[in-house]
Amino acid sequence: MGFSFKISARDGRARTGAISTPRGDIRTPAFMPVGTAATVKAMMPESVRETGADILLGNTYHLMLRPTSERIAALGGLHKFMNWDRPILTDSGGFQVMSLASLRKLTEEGVRFSSHIDGSRHLLTPERSMEIQRLLGSDIVMSFDECTPWPADEKTARASMELSMRWAKRSRDAFGDRPGHALFGIQQGSVYPDQRAESAEKLRAIGFDGYAIGGLAVGEGQELMFQVLDYAPGQLPDDKPRYLMGVGKPDDIVGAVQRGVDMFDCVLPSRSGRTGQGWTAHGPVNLRNARHRDDPRPLEEGCSCPACRNYSRAYLHHVIKSDEIIGSMLLTWHNLTYYQRLMQGLRDAIAAGTLEQFVARFHAEREQGDI
Ligand code: GUN
Ligand code: ZN
Repeated sequence: MGFSFKISARDGRARTGAISTPRGDIRTPAFMPVGTAATVKAMMPESVRETGADILLGNTYHLMLRPTSERIAALGGLHKFMNWDRPILTDSGGFQVMSLASLRKLTEEGVRFSSHIDGSRHLLTPERSMEIQRLLGSDIVMSFDECTPWPADEKTARASMELSMRWAKRSRDAFGDRPGHALFGIQQGSVYPDQRAESAEKLRAIGFDGYAIGGLAVGEGQELMFQVLDYAPGQLPDDKPRYLMGVGKPDDIVGAVQRGVDMFDCVLPSRSGRTGQGWTAHGPVNLRNARHRDDPRPLEEGCSCPACRNYSRAYLHHVIKSDEIIGSMLLTWHNLTYYQRLMQGLRDAIAAGTLEQFVARFHAEREQGDI
C-alpha cells in the first residue's frame, strides 16, 4: 500500500493515468480544489467529492497559525478534522508567507514572518514545514521553496532557484522515509530554460515521488507560461507526476495538459464562485449582470450540479445580488463541477487519442460565448 503513478495512455505529450495512495486513487490529469483553512469554502466535503474531486489541497501556512498543526494532530489529523478521508496535498508555506504575511525576513535558514491574523512571530524552515505537514497527516507533502517573484533578472532568479534547491535537499532529509506518503520537489528557474534544466537536474539527483513546476502564473501571462511549459515538463522525469502549482483558468489547464502536466490546483473556481462568476463551456458568466434577472434557463444546459438542475439564472442572479450564502454555495458547486467535467473530458480524450479534437471543440465553444 505505497504511493505509485501509472500512466495508462498518452496522446502527444499529454498523459492520463492514476496516482495510487493508501487513501485512494487520483485520476490524472487531476484538478485539486483548494481547501486552505481545512475547508473548501462554501462546500461540505461530501459535496466536493460529488463534483468528482479525488484530492484536496491544504495549506501549511494557514493551518500552522490557526488552529495550529499540533492541535490538528491531537485531534486525529487533518482528514478526520475536516471530514475528508481521501488524499490531501499540502503546500509547504513559503509561497503563502510571501503573499500574506508581513515583516518577512528570508535567510538561508528559512523565513521569519508576522502572522496576518494576530501579528505573532513565526519561523518556517524546510525542517519545520516537513514537521507541520507530517502533523497534519498530508498524503502529498511539498518541499519548502521560494516562489521566484516575477519579473526576475537572470541573476536574481538563479540565486532564488539555488536557495530552493538547497531547501529541497533539506526537505528531503527532514521528510525521511514515510511509506504511503509522498514528497514532491518543486522546480524553479523563472523563464530561463538553462536554469529550469539545472533545477530539474538537482531535483532528480535528490529524488522525489513527484515534481512540481513552481514560479509560474505569477504575472508573466499565458503566452510566456506556455513558452516555459513547452520545455519544462520534459526536463522532469517522465514516470513521475508533474504538478503545475496555482494554475489556473480552464484554457491554462487545457494548454498545460497538452504540454505534459498531470496535476493542477487553483482558487479560481471556488473564489470566483463567491463573487458571482460561473464557469461554463461557453466561458465565464457574470451572474451579477442584469441580463440574467428574468432568465428561467439554467446556468449551463446539461450540467449535473444542483445549481443547474434545480435553479434558474434568475434565481442565481437574485441570491448573488442579495449576498445570500446559498449564492456562494451554488456557484462554487457549479464551478467545481465544471472543472471536474473538464478534467474528465481531457482524461477521456487522451485515452481515446482524440485530444486535438477535444481542444478544438473546447476553443470553438468558448468563442461562441454565452448566449
Ligand atoms: N503556488 C504557486 N506557485 C508556487 C510555487 O512556486 N511554490 C509553492 N510552494 N507554491 C506555489
Ligand atoms: Zn452546474
